[in-house]
Amino acid sequence: MKTRVAILISGAGSNMAALIDAARRPDSGYEAALVVSNVEGAGGLAIAAAKGVATATVAHKAFGKDREAHERAVDAVLREAAIEVVALAGYMRVLTPWLVGGWRGRMLNIHPSLLPLYPGLDTHARAIRAGDAEAGCTVHLVTEGVDEGPILGQARVPIVEGDTPGALAERVKTAEHELYPRVLRAFCRGLERG
Ligand code: GRF
Repeated sequence: MKTRVAILISGAGSNMAALIDAARRPDSGYEAALVVSNVEGAGGLAIAAAKGVATATVAHKAFGKDREAHERAVDAVLREAAIEVVALAGYMRVLTPWLVGGWRGRMLNIHPSLLPLYPGLDTHARAIRAGDAEAGCTVHLVTEGVDEGPILGQARVPIVEGDTPGALAERVKTAEHELYPRVLRAFCRGLERG
């Protein structure tokens, strides 16, 4: 049995698309069972639907400032779909300890920097400004601290002369699309072996 994975998105969903496509390979070890967005009409929803993956929207706006109430609604959707592992892919919400605790050891995130460098936003501009020779991306387990959990895998790309945050972001994204499916597959295989 393949591990049932839900992918949580807020936007374009290019990592989501890579995860869905990789899940289709016979040896993937996981199934992209559901895509959930907190943003109505997020670009990734149409892509997921076109690829034949079930989608759901749980708009955070409807819950005002009550983050946990929104998370309880998201969690209900995940449990209803018998999800075993959650992959955050451009899910632009800071999670409360309630959701993190409920999925401890079973929720992954991808971050566009070589953690522990540059948690948070604007990672590419910060790496260029610092004069770094390389940048990259990290897949990690989600814990209470933002972008802080145990690292499961990283990929590196060079920062070139005259780089812009946009150009670097594109280079890193290409690496993300290779890294995330590879790490998720290995992670789900590890779960199978127990
Ligand atoms: C990616 O750069 C990811 O690392 C970050 O958010 C971005 C999402 O992009 N967490 P996409 O929606 O997967 O294209």
